[in-house]
Amino acid sequence: MKPDSTEDLIVRLLKNLGSKKEVEQYLRLFSSVEEKRFAVIKVSGGVVDTELDALVGSIAFLDKVGLTPVVIHGAGPQLLAAEQQAGVSSTNDRGERVVSEASIALARKVFQKENLRIVGALEAIGTRARPIPTGVFIAEKIEDGRLGYVGRVVGVDVDAIEASISAEQIPVLASLAETASGQVLNINADAAAHKLALALQPFKVVFLSPDDGIRGEDGQILSAINLEEDYEGLLAQPWLSSSTKNKLSEIHAMLQGLPRSSSVAVASPENLTRELFTHKGAGTLVRLGERVRCHPDFKKLDLERLRGLLEDSFGRKLHADYFEKKPFFRIYLADSYRATAILTLEDGIPYLDKFAVTTEAQGDGVGGSLWQRITQENEKLFWRSRIDNEVNSWYFARSDGCFKSDKWCVFWCGLSDHAEIKSCIDLALAMPATLKVHAVGVQP
Ligand code: ARG
Repeated sequence: MKPDSTEDLIVRLLKNLGSKKEVEQYLRLFSSVEEKRFAVIKVSGGVVDTELDALVGSIAFLDKVGLTPVVIHGAGPQLLAAEQQAGVSSTNDRGERVVSEASIALARKVFQKENLRIVGALEAIGTRARPIPTGVFIAEKIEDGRLGYVGRVVGVDVDAIEASISAEQIPVLASLAETASGQVLNINADAAAHKLALALQPFKVVFLSPDDGIRGEDGQILSAINLEEDYEGLLAQPWLSSSTKNKLSEIHAMLQGLPRSSSVAVASPENLTRELFTHKGAGTLVRLGERVRCHPDFKKLDLERLRGLLEDSFGRKLHADYFEKKPFFRIYLADSYRATAILTLEDGIPYLDKFAVTTEAQGDGVGGSLWQRITQENEKLFWRSRIDNEVNSWYFARSDGCFKSDKWCVFWCGLSDHAEIKSCIDLALAMPATLKVHAVGVQP
């Protein structure tokens, strides 16, 4: 779709977002794939009900900058309300939800209505959209029909979607399916989005829901999940609800069927633009991601690449003999060479000599995974950073304590003995510099 005045829009967006360079970078990235492969956006019924304006606003923005997402929506709460109002009973003698003939008839109507509501709202703000309430998902009844007209998706017909995209209209799909002979069946909207994604192989799969993302132990949004490193640990957490665990395993299974570059965003309609067009995002980004490995020495590593990562992220040159000078303890490195933590042992206590993460790797969770690994595997840890380093507040939140001199902040984790803390501070302050003095940007 041709944007009318992308420049204007970006400028407007920037007022809320920040850097123009960042927005343009993501715009280029998202436009680099075939149009139909940009994104599948799954919208829960609840969002259609309560956040329609924000929803169509963020979709219209994508349309204006020339991106065409494929939208699929549910209508759970609306259907439940309609069933209650019509007095259509929906459980069997085992207490399971059953979709009776009356309720599937109702579902058809409700989905049609909600589908047109989204399309209508998009059209009303000048975004061309096409209703596709049926005709995409082919399903079979589950459990031999014991639950009535409920199906499992066995096929996806993308013709209607492609036709809509070629006509420059955003396809809006309902999560309803038909059997091969045309009987309408109710299907789970997340499962439908999953199957749709496998058929279209999009770069992004977005789950829009009223909560802004996946929440962690303290109720805060988990900014990014790097499944290769974090998946098993997260599933073992007692604080993660079983519905979130199910959601994560669904996402894990889905990402395994998509290109490695694909990712999932869980966001609210309100924060979707920020999620897509900034490094930091605003919801939860889930990627299959990559492993962080711990090496005992530099033998198997590409030292030039590692030097590049360190020098880029500190904006300064590393002393030529840095890698040979000290005995090192552990070198943690992400497979992509976008994040590293280099540890030495000082008086028997692990010292974080270098910690470098590219901005991109901060945004997609690899930096977080790396930090998790080093703090998990090194019970005691201390490090120093220049007092004007922008990262200090991040370190502050992750350390047990901090000592400030006129030049350095010394941080530590896992130390409680005063004498030990004192000796670590002295050691850190006495450490010789390993980066050349002429600064060209951010200080380490
Ligand atoms: N905008 C980038 C993307 O969509 C990065 C998003 C980072 N998001 C996050 N919640 N950490 O791929």
